Amino acid sequence: MKKRVLTGIKPTGYAHIGNYFGAIKPAIEMSNNNEYDCFYFIADNHALNTLKSAEEMKEYAYNIACTWLACGLDPEKVVFYRQTDVPEVFHLNWILSNVTPKGLMNRAHAYKAKVEENQKNGEDLDSGINMGLYNYPILMAADILLFGTDIVPVGLDQKQHIEIARDIAESFNKKYGKTFVVPEPYIEKETCTLVGLDGRKMSKSYNNAIQLFTDEKTLQKSINRIVTDSRLPGEPKDPECTLAILFKIFADEERYSKFVNDLKAGLGWGEAKKQLFEVMNAHIAPMREKFDYFMAHKDEVDEILKLGAEKARKVASEYYEKTLKNIGVK
Ligand code: TRP
Repeated sequence: MKKRVLTGIKPTGYAHIGNYFGAIKPAIEMSNNNEYDCFYFIADNHALNTLKSAEEMKEYAYNIACTWLACGLDPEKVVFYRQTDVPEVFHLNWILSNVTPKGLMNRAHAYKAKVEENQKNGEDLDSGINMGLYNYPILMAADILLFGTDIVPVGLDQKQHIEIARDIAESFNKKYGKTFVVPEPYIEKETCTLVGLDGRKMSKSYNNAIQLFTDEKTLQKSINRIVTDSRLPGEPKDPECTLAILFKIFADEERYSKFVNDLKAGLGWGEAKKQLFEVMNAHIAPMREKFDYFMAHKDEVDEILKLGAEKARKVASEYYEKTLKNIGVK
């Protein structure tokens, strides 16, 4: 039996190269492996908590959908859909809430961090916290359990959510008999190390990310923003600087070692940035072309997602019906 792999990306911003190397590229590689049966989706309801307007939702949801397609997701191979197109997820979310201890949610990192921040600032502990944030991990468990998922590829920051989904699956199975597969996380290593423009971890929230699909000029500008030290051309540079780390993931071994040797021999930062732009742009350009195509043909994207949702609901309904039966409403 093929292993079922499922993951979602929240449309809360433009996809950046950290998302690409940490999540999208490895997920697409998995989908090309015959041992796996892959379900990838746009977690639009999980984004509601962060987004400020309907316009942002539209903008980012298409950006993420077109990014997946541009990076090579084949909708014939992958069940590719929007979370909101599978309403069974929301009923399951409610059912699962009833086997989820409140204390488990109190310990979820994102919620706990908010409470601690309020405490530090002398605010009411609940200040600025809505139920969407509090229930976030249950909705995520519903996403996963509804499809009998075996493996969930995620970044390290999501590990606790998978542990919560496992706990919820186990509590449910204990109360109602074996219904759900208990999923395993699959943590991509690269996400832990990919650095951003300022040398910290690349993240939307640090505003240090390099957007994956922009025009060449903007890409060049982002690269020019990468923080370096003040060493002059001719002075040896640190071979583990941010430029070298980024160069490594875009270039082949030979090109990378030449770059590092040149840095050690005194390559100027300006020239180094030019070379980084060249290797990055060479990698991104063919995908950017596809991205631009899909962004200009949103009706095609809608159609792909609609067909994906039909396939997803077919699989989901099996677990959904079984759940309704096991809880005694059918
Ligand atoms: N919470 C995930 C993130 O922020 C997105 C997500 C929602 C997800 N549902 C999921 C990931 C189910 C994996 C499986 O990145």
